[in-house]
Amino acid sequence: MKIAVVGATGLVGGVMLKSLLERKFPFTKIYLVASERSIGKIIEFNNSKLEVIGMKQAISLKPDIAIFSAGGSTSLKWAPEFAKVGTTVIDNSSAWRMHEDKKLIVPEINASELTKEDKIIANPNCSTIQMVLALAPLHRKYKIKRIVVSTYQSVTGSGVKAVEQLENERKGVHGEMAYPHPIDLNCIPHGGDFEDNGYTTEETKLVNETRKILGDQSINVTATVVRIPVYGGHSEAVNVEFENDFDLDEVKKLLSEFPGITIQDDPENNNYPMPKNAHGKDDVFVGRIRRDFSQAKSLNFWVVSDNLRKGAATNAIQIAEYLVKNNLA
Ligand code: A2P
Repeated sequence: MKIAVVGATGLVGGVMLKSLLERKFPFTKIYLVASERSIGKIIEFNNSKLEVIGMKQAISLKPDIAIFSAGGSTSLKWAPEFAKVGTTVIDNSSAWRMHEDKKLIVPEINASELTKEDKIIANPNCSTIQMVLALAPLHRKYKIKRIVVSTYQSVTGSGVKAVEQLENERKGVHGEMAYPHPIDLNCIPHGGDFEDNGYTTEETKLVNETRKILGDQSINVTATVVRIPVYGGHSEAVNVEFENDFDLDEVKKLLSEFPGITIQDDPENNNYPMPKNAHGKDDVFVGRIRRDFSQAKSLNFWVVSDNLRKGAATNAIQIAEYLVKNNLA
């Protein structure tokens, strides 16, 4: 099993490397790949020093699986080139997610859709992954009509430059701006780019990707994406209206039994999910689970996850694990 990590010098790439080791992913060879400007750079991995290689060299080495986290345009250009030599690409960018013939996978929900023919597999957006993981068992039982979600997203979701912006601001240093405004002591209701309809691209991803992963185009979703000055993970306030009524204890049971979810819901002891606690963990944490008394058959919850872990690296590696286990790559 030869594996390539494309974007190995980036934030998500770094977490992928860590995670591959932690999860004891069964690779025999690993290639660290980045842009031409990083070729030759040395990265410490598993007590050895590995040299970063470029895309062309990586393709010539014909890895079995390439996990990409190198941006949409890189993926659009290069993923098909890897696929041509027989590599299965798991892509963390938004480039392929809404393509009709590409699968959008959260393994706990829909990995069984994957076949040997899938050579480019899309990893969903970080905010979508944590939300749909919590919604999937509830949708199966009560059928979702409408979701209203507001996000509180970590700067780590915007890459190295955004983290540097926050660090610079905290040190009082002038540097490159990843956001159109200061992020420290602020919250910015702007994720991605604005579209003509007034929503941002990050908000639209939450709508479209949720429907695709849950396999139900009738689900109504409306989202507000907000960037806040935290590191550990994304948080989301989710309001969901179901077709069928629910029992709150049963909701908690369904959530607690679903793989990848940890319930943290003990308000009396001030116990609820927070990015500081989710940081570095693979799970999706759900709390503040309560009935919405303003509307029938409706539920509120708060969901937090490390966006670099389950929101990106972990989910991609879980897809790779599924491919290996089922002999699909
Ligand atoms: P590089 O460090 O050489 O620029 P982040 O989102 O954290 O900023 O990381 C982006 C990752 O994607 C980095 O590893 C970056 O490599 C990589 N990358 C960007 N453009 C390309 C490209 N054209 N080909 C390969 N890797 C790229």
